[in-house]
Amino acid sequence: MSQDSSKIEASVHQHQHQHKHHFHSHGHSHSHDNGNNQEEIDLWAGKDYLDMPGVFEVAHISHDSIIHSLKNAGINKDEYKNWDILEIGCGAGAVTKHFINTFKSVHAIDTSPTMIATLSEYLKEDPNMDKLTYFLHTLSSSSNKQFEERQAQKSPIKDDLDRMIKPKQSKFKLAISNLVLHHIDNIPEFLNGAISLLEKDGWLVFTEIGWGENENLHQHQHHHDHNHNHNQVPSKPSIETEGKPHEGGSFNAPDHYRKPYTVESLKELFEGYGLKDVYAEERGVLPVFGVDNDKPKPSCLIVRGRKV
Ligand SMILES: C[S@@+](CC[C@H](N)C(=O)[O-])C[C@H]1O[C@@H](n2cnc3c(N)ncnc32)[C@H](O)[C@@H]1O
Repeated sequence: MSQDSSKIEASVHQHQHQHKHHFHSHGHSHSHDNGNNQEEIDLWAGKDYLDMPGVFEVAHISHDSIIHSLKNAGINKDEYKNWDILEIGCGAGAVTKHFINTFKSVHAIDTSPTMIATLSEYLKEDPNMDKLTYFLHTLSSSSNKQFEERQAQKSPIKDDLDRMIKPKQSKFKLAISNLVLHHIDNIPEFLNGAISLLEKDGWLVFTEIGWGENENLHQHQHHHDHNHNHNQVPSKPSIETEGKPHEGGSFNAPDHYRKPYTVESLKELFEGYGLKDVYAEERGVLPVFGVDNDKPKPSCLIVRGRKV
């Protein structure tokens, strides 16, 4: 075991010890059993995700982008408002809040107990809460079986961290995921798992951060400056184009990411998994560092594909 992993292990044990007394984990790594009997480390622990600059603005844009993509595919509101959807990597629920207002129901999954616990507090008073179910789940080739057999999975809430709930359905008309793909460690398990939960003709729609398109990023900034801010030159983001894994090798952590995707690479990825009617585009910018004029803003990428 390397020194780094032993540090993480030590921190996990410390957290497990304290688990009964703390709902949120501040500053600790956090291990969990996500229903697949896999112990993983929750590197999202200790991050106050909802306090990050721009998070609600980004969530708004993410929701709009998904709706834009559906409309573009010829699906109108009268149709999609009756859909039960799957949200993959719901995080702290910033975009989920919009989805429960738009769709008939949302089943949200994430691999981070910290994020799910934050979501449960953030949305508990929401008027559309009755449309939402959520649990910890790692998509894999066994996801289909687990959903088909209605296997109960952990859905922690403040007063019952060990609460288990069963999936109400095993197939969805739409599965969406916002700003998650660049954090995925095992892409084949993730995408095959997601596609296995789609109905025939069901849609998979993802949004991603367009870091790879630095020229476009520059153009957006230029445009932005021209209109709103003549005096400040925005700083260029320091994005490592080959990706930036965590020291333990994982991309599944705040401020860590895979090599950035592009419109072309997203399209190729979806087509490579057998999806049809694949369409990827760049649309607007994402204020992931906050809305201020001097903050760099990457473009928003959207990709959709249909299961046949
Ligand atoms: C940048 S956050 C985005 C959260 C939310 N979608 C939003 O836009 O506010 C990335 C999320 O992906 C989740 N994640 C990472 N790997 C995952 C996986 N294999 N399956 C589901 N969620 C995953 C993380 O736990 C985290 O909550």
